[in-house]
Amino acid sequence: MCGIVGYVGRRNASDVLIDGLKRLEYRGYDSAGLALRTGDGLIILKEVGKVADLERMLEEISPCSTQGIGHTRWATHGGVTQVNAHPHRDGSGKFAIVHNGIVENYMELKEELEREGVEFLSETDTEVVVHLIATSFSQTGDILETLVNLQGRLRGSFALVVIQQDLPDRIYCVRKGSPLVLGSGDGESFCASDVPAFLPYTRKIQYLEEGDIAEISLGGIRVWDENGCPVEKTVFTVDWDVSMTEKSGFSHFMLKEIHEQGMVLRSTLKGRIADGRTAVDQELGWDAEMASKWDKVHLVACGTSYYSALVAERVLEKWTDLEIKVDVASEYRYRHIKCDPSTLAVFVSQSGETADTLAAQRKARADGAHCLAITNVRGSTLAREVHSVMLLKAGPEIGVAATKTFTGQMAALFLVALQLGRLRGTLPSDEEERLISELIHIPYKVELLLERENEVMELAKRYASKSNFLFIGRGISFPIALEGALKLKEISYIHAEAYAAGEMKHGPIALLEPDLPVLAVIPRDGLYEKTLSNIQEAKARNAPLIAVCTEGDTIIPQHVESVIEIPWTDEEFTPFLSVVPLQFLAFHIALLKGREIDQPRNLAKSVTVE
Ligand code: G6P
Repeated sequence: MCGIVGYVGRRNASDVLIDGLKRLEYRGYDSAGLALRTGDGLIILKEVGKVADLERMLEEISPCSTQGIGHTRWATHGGVTQVNAHPHRDGSGKFAIVHNGIVENYMELKEELEREGVEFLSETDTEVVVHLIATSFSQTGDILETLVNLQGRLRGSFALVVIQQDLPDRIYCVRKGSPLVLGSGDGESFCASDVPAFLPYTRKIQYLEEGDIAEISLGGIRVWDENGCPVEKTVFTVDWDVSMTEKSGFSHFMLKEIHEQGMVLRSTLKGRIADGRTAVDQELGWDAEMASKWDKVHLVACGTSYYSALVAERVLEKWTDLEIKVDVASEYRYRHIKCDPSTLAVFVSQSGETADTLAAQRKARADGAHCLAITNVRGSTLAREVHSVMLLKAGPEIGVAATKTFTGQMAALFLVALQLGRLRGTLPSDEEERLISELIHIPYKVELLLERENEVMELAKRYASKSNFLFIGRGISFPIALEGALKLKEISYIHAEAYAAGEMKHGPIALLEPDLPVLAVIPRDGLYEKTLSNIQEAKARNAPLIAVCTEGDTIIPQHVESVIEIPWTDEEFTPFLSVVPLQFLAFHIALLKGREIDQPRNLAKSVTVE
């Protein structure tokens, strides 16, 4: 986690860095700091709390500098203190670094450095790195050689940005295992954990490969590989613009992103459907012969992305003859699940940087699986390592709790499932056509639902004081119950559990009482009557009931306290609709409780450590 940013140019570096850190704050937000190079030496400022607290500190001294590095932290090694906040500096105060990742062998390195007389100020793993750099540089006098040597000493993952007082107008970056992108402007250069940090200044970006070292300077960008050999990089122009990283009149990023879901679906489907069938052959690079070699699909992800995989599991089972397995990446990577060249392994990750998902992908790839990434970030580590990629086209998601990317992931996964069904001859073309004709109406139906936010807001008032919630659903609605409970937990801090409705009898029913609301996701589908029985069981135990059901349902309102209606759609597509009111419910309950919705406590958007 953590967000890092670096700048060299002619602008006031502290303005660029603070702006960049605010745009990266979703990555970590327990403390922040920056190091600025000035004529009088490096100035290092750090503060526990938000970037805004650091900004206030800066206002008092208004340093004059055009070169600096910044960091927003999500603590791993060492508590949340000013001393542990980055940047960290060496004993002479000439070097300062910011780091995202974990140095696994920092204890042994620390002992070695202490034996040499180095004094440590913080409890972080990062501090060993700056001392190693300073020691090596004092021997070699060459920063490139120093950074090549450094990589041989460190185990773990790191994106590092280094500034040195005696190296004017340039800063250095090293990337191994943690994200770092470079941006080139006119007479200025940037580096950051994620593109939005420098989007107001440039859309021209370069991605670093594992082990790459970069110098960003007034004159441009130079890159070397881990052995110090120069490498040529392709410059990409990102199609995101800066307005996508702003709230655009909404009170919160999360609310804006919920409201963008119709648009996200449209752009994710655009160009990928033609003449009543999927048109993703070139993008995925699959043909019938290739698809006939697979006999199983593994879907692997974390958090909300995992729930989108659970939705996909259910349609893949229906539209293909493949054996489907879904797992969270942190389990999958350590299990002994049979994975071989007859496996299609699908990794779902908004960021494309989640450490466990990356490790799971590497394992499946080593086992010979064909790996597909479903991600929102072009150029992310996951996107670059797999055989095939399908992008969500959701635009940057800044709210820590994922919303629009969940919808985008489901859309991308549905396209993959339809494609597999056709390639394997298990989904007849008239059925594919029928499904697609409904799929293309889903963005409009989502937009109709978005107009009903006020109804959910009223409901939120009724239930915001509750301390516990139970979400239930069956079939394709079960993952939506899981996602609804997760959203509520993440941003309101209310304890919420989700169960497959049929499992309620096997435990959670013991919890039911008048103070435990049960939210049932019950669209008109093949399992409707089964879930209705579960609603009745809950009602008989005096639990207050809320139902997300299909418009025009006259039965459900007779059994529940509150109803949220969604437009009619085919069973398979109900998740696109039923998740929306659950997102609104979590949002409005969190708002009533005064929570920090876009940056909930203890969470980070991109989990780049195991
Ligand atoms: C974190 C985020 C979640 C996200 C999960 C997986 O926990 O807070 O919103 O679902 O990571 O992230 P990914 O980028 O791999 O989808």
